Parts: sequence; C-alpha cells; structure tokens
Amino acid sequence: MDKRSQWGTRAGFIMAAMGSAVGLGNIWRFPATAYENGGGAFFIPYLIALFTAGIPILIMEFTIGHKYRGSAPLSFKKINPKMEWVGWWGVIVAFVISTYYSVIIAWAISYSIFSLNLSWGTDTESFLFSDYLNLAVDPGQTGSLVPGVLIPLIIVWIVVLGILYQGVKKGIEMANRIMIPTLLVIFLIIVIRAVTLPGAAEGLNAFFQPDFSQILSPSVWVAAYGQIFFTLSIAFAIMITYSSYLPKKSDITNNAFITGLGNSSFELLAGIGVFSILGFMAVQQGVSVDEVVAGGVGLAFVVFPAIINEFPAFNEFFGFLFFASLVLAGLTSLMSIIETYIAGLVDKFGMSRSRAVAVGGGIAAITSLLFATQGGMFFLDAADYFINQFGVAFVGLVEVVLLAWFLRKLKDFRAHADEFSDIKLGSWWTISLSIITPIVLGYMLIGLFKLNLLKEFTGEGNETGNYEGYPDMFITFGGWAVAAAALVIGLLLTATKWKSPNNK
Ligand code: ALA
Repeated sequence: MDKRSQWGTRAGFIMAAMGSAVGLGNIWRFPATAYENGGGAFFIPYLIALFTAGIPILIMEFTIGHKYRGSAPLSFKKINPKMEWVGWWGVIVAFVISTYYSVIIAWAISYSIFSLNLSWGTDTESFLFSDYLNLAVDPGQTGSLVPGVLIPLIIVWIVVLGILYQGVKKGIEMANRIMIPTLLVIFLIIVIRAVTLPGAAEGLNAFFQPDFSQILSPSVWVAAYGQIFFTLSIAFAIMITYSSYLPKKSDITNNAFITGLGNSSFELLAGIGVFSILGFMAVQQGVSVDEVVAGGVGLAFVVFPAIINEFPAFNEFFGFLFFASLVLAGLTSLMSIIETYIAGLVDKFGMSRSRAVAVGGGIAAITSLLFATQGGMFFLDAADYFINQFGVAFVGLVEVVLLAWFLRKLKDFRAHADEFSDIKLGSWWTISLSIITPIVLGYMLIGLFKLNLLKEFTGEGNETGNYEGYPDMFITFGGWAVAAAALVIGLLLTATKWKSPNNK
C-alpha cells in the first residue's frame, strides 16, 4: 500500500511551493544583484532565464515528483537506477545551503529584536561586525562561538525541525498557510511606506535605468541564471520532493506557472521597496543612489538599520517589520531545503519521519555552528558565493543534459504533465530544455571556470559577492573541496543499500 504523505489541498501545495521560492533570495539578494548587473537591463537576461530555464525546469521537477512519488534520490533511481547520484547531489547541495541559510535567519531574528529600540546605534557597520558578529579573526579562522548568534540559531532549528516533525500536512502546509499570508501583508505595508517616502523616485530611477553596456558580459548572465535557480528552488531537490506529496489528480503546469510568476512578482516588489528606501537614504544624505547600495549582508544588516534610523516616524515599527519579513520568508524556505534530506533518509533508509528529522536536522544544526563562530561570516560569504556561482547551476545543467539528451525523457514527461494539467505544453518547453538551457548554461559555466582558473594563474584576488581580497586558497580550495565532497558523499550514499522495504 502507498502510504506517502500528501498535501491537504491544492492551495496548500501552492502556498508551500511559494513559501519555498520566496525567501532570502528575493529580499536579500535580488535587488542588489539586479542593480549590480545593469539595473533595468538585467531584466532581459532575467526574463530569458525565467522562461527558458526557470519555469521549464520547475514544470519538469513537478512532473518528476508527481510521476515517481519519491524524494529526489528515489525519483531519479526510478527514472534510471544509474541516476540516483544526481538526486543525492542536489540533496547535498541543499544540505550545505541549509547550514548557512539558517544562520542568516538567526541574524534577522536578532535584528528584529534590536529594531525595537534601534540598539544598533548610528554606526551600523561597526555594530554588525564588531558588536554583534564579534568578527575578530582572519578569513579561514573560526575563533569561538558567538552567543548572540548561537541563541537565535538554536531557536531557528527548534522551530523548523519542530514543524518538519509534524509532517507534510500538519507541519509544512499549516506553517505556510499562516506564514505566507502574514509575510505578504507585512511586505505590502513596507512597500507602500517605501514608495511614499521622499526620494523614492530617485531610487526607482536608479533601479530601472537600463545600463545596456553590461548586457553582453557573461557574468551578467551567470548572475541571472544563478538568481533564477536559487529563487525558484530548482536543481537542489526541493521541488521534486514537494511535488512528490501531490495527490494523483493534481495539476502540474498551471501550478508551476503560478509559483514561478508569483515568485518573480514578489521579487519585483522587493526590488521596488528596497530601491525606494535606498533613494530616500540617498536624498537624505545628499549623495547618489549608487553610494548607498550594498550587496547581501551589507544591504540588509548595515544599510537598512542606518535607513531605519532616518525614517520620519515609527522607526522601530518599520525596522521590526522588515526583519520579521526576512525571518518569515527565510523560515518557509528553510523548511523546504531541509525536507529534501529528511525525505531522502526516509526513502532510502526506511527511517521514521521523527528519526530522519533528528538525524538529518541534527547533523545540519551541528554543521551550522561553524557559521556562528567569530569567523563565521567569512565562511558564510564564501559558501554562499560558491553555491550560487557553481553549485546550483551546475546541478541544473547536469540534470537537464542527462534527462533531455541521454535518457530522452522529455517526451514522456510532457505526456505525463499534459495528462493532468489545464495548460498543455508546447514545443517551446522541449526546445527550452533540450537546446537553449544546455547551450546557455554550458557556455556560461565553461566561461566561468576559465575566468577562475585565469585568476589562479594571474594571482588576482578572488572576489565574492560582498567582500574582496580573501586569500585564493580560502575560496578556491575551500569551495572546490566542498563541491567535490558533495559529489563524493552523493556517490557513497548511492552505493549504500536501499533499506526501505517499499523502495528496493
Ligand atoms: N528559493 C529560496 C530563496 O530565494 C531558497 O531564498
């Protein structure tokens, strides 16, 4: 008998998929990435990536999950026993992401509390690095654990693992049904306040003004594809896992469009909100917008607190809303990231759900402590950079090439999706996956490898999203070691025997 857990309703599934997609990537990463890569002109590669890779892969992953009803490793094994490792590879990438993603949510929890009395003071940069993170070591060193980060991190793990322990319907679906509408309301309040601030128009001009000179640069395309993969939660096992809990009679293609377009709308909304606020700050200080923009950590945890100080009224309230929105968006994504390995452990080793939560979640929680040390932010920044440049897009490329070219599965998948969906797939879907995505991604990644090797030989320092001048060893060898370890662990897991009686 098939006892796999299921979503309670269609809306529940869509809410969970949206909850996974809308995350730190939308609020924390997208606005700065778009700005750095040509502003308005970035929308061209972004939309091309969305429609030729993002949504087609999302449809494919929903189809795989629905058709094979398994975690990523089990689904790939059912497609072809030689493919199991691809599933594990995605799962391990998700594991790595969960270990640092949880820490950023922990920072956001601390900052929600700090905002209640604006305790970051006027020098928000030194508050973050010295007072809060206690960053007193060189990149690559750990130092000791920082209690201010450790305590909210423990809370994050207790909350997320508690939800996952409750199961798919009572845990994940229920949590998303509460958190996603709340997030939407909070975010709308922030955006409405943002666009009505003095200076908002300057910020929006800076955001939307196209800089077409950059559009042919490969790094802009890498940024667009990287953003699409991360933000849609594709190519790291998540959407296969979530759709494996769909009841048999479920729409696939329409759900994928709702999720993909809904997520991008949220992303655009975040961009509008963030840039209106940056415009306000720039006008207050009498500088241009590019002087106040910062990427990643800097934007959310240095620039935003500084801006909140300047708000005309209700500073504490808006500060709290902003960081609370990061916490909510982060938590709903984190649960989907962790569910990939919970599902993998249940399917492969026949563990009970509670045991898989304890084992998988426990190992991830312990690993995440690395990022809660004094040198944690350097490790976090490097891990995030590497995952986004190579990790996710690389798994995506391998997944698409193997399924489209070697196993020639697209026709099968298309027939399956069409059987259950309102919208029927056209040849655009097959062409996107079998031709456009492999060529663009392949070309891009080869270019990126060359660029990195060149850097090695010319001795120029590597640059990450936020900080420059890390020792090459730290990024290159650290990053490649983790990437290689992900593949090796994936292969080892593939080599172990299937213990679950249902899946042998
Ligand atoms: N899709 C999630 C995000 O954007 C992982 O943060």
